[in-house]
Amino acid sequence: MGRIITIAQQKGGAGKTTVTAHLAVAWQQAGHKVALVDIDPQGSLTRWFETRTAVLNGAADMVHSRISGWRIEREAQHLARTNDLVLIDSPPHAETEARIAVRVASLVVVPVQPSPMDVWATQPTIDLGKQEKVPVLLVLNRVPARSRMTDALVSEIRKLLTPPAVDLAKTWIGNRIGYAGALLAGRAVTEVDRGSTAATEMTTLAEEILGRLG
Ligand SMILES: Nc1ncnc2c1ncn2[C@@H]1O[C@H](COP(=O)(O)OP(=O)(O)OP(=O)(O)O)[C@@H](O)[C@H]1O
Ligand SMILES: [Mg+2]
Repeated sequence: MGRIITIAQQKGGAGKTTVTAHLAVAWQQAGHKVALVDIDPQGSLTRWFETRTAVLNGAADMVHSRISGWRIEREAQHLARTNDLVLIDSPPHAETEARIAVRVASLVVVPVQPSPMDVWATQPTIDLGKQEKVPVLLVLNRVPARSRMTDALVSEIRKLLTPPAVDLAKTWIGNRIGYAGALLAGRAVTEVDRGSTAATEMTTLAEEILGRLG
């Protein structure tokens, strides 16, 4: 049985879709069978996947499903039978659907930008994980080059932690233009420039999350 990972965060634009697509590629490159589930009506992950499939001349290298509502749970479990990792990308501000997606998962990955708004918006997603008894892993995303402001915000984020149920990934994702560029081309930074800092940090994050899944 494969593992189901839900990427959730009520705050819009925190990096859910960016992280989902990049983890999917990193795990695919590491030899795992990956399935994507897009439950966001915006369909950004689906657009990326369609671009990717076109770039690969129709030979998709991962499974993709776009779905909503009560069917999420069955679809994710169904995909977990034939894939190693099932990633669910969820929309912002989605109480019911996010709850279903969290309930079915082994781990909830929550991108958090070091901004006050992101930090304040994170508690409801943490609560969702607690209520559904699913471990939550916060992932710092779009971290600017070292600044005192970042340090202050990271200490605020640490106050939200109650490991192991709610933890913060050791790997931080930087603020790098390469992430958007790769996605626009239906790719990931680990394919576009394997030697880049972005590729290294994303590969490290993918390994860290697998380690946490056990
Ligand atoms: N690490 C990063 N470095 C630079 N830009 C980033 C990074 N992560 C995300 N972005 C940019 O931030 C914006 C929002 O990212 P993304 O769409 O992944 O967030 P989201 O949480 O899925 O948004 P939504 O809530 O609308 O679904 C995009 O323009 C994306 O390119
Ligand atoms: Mg999104």
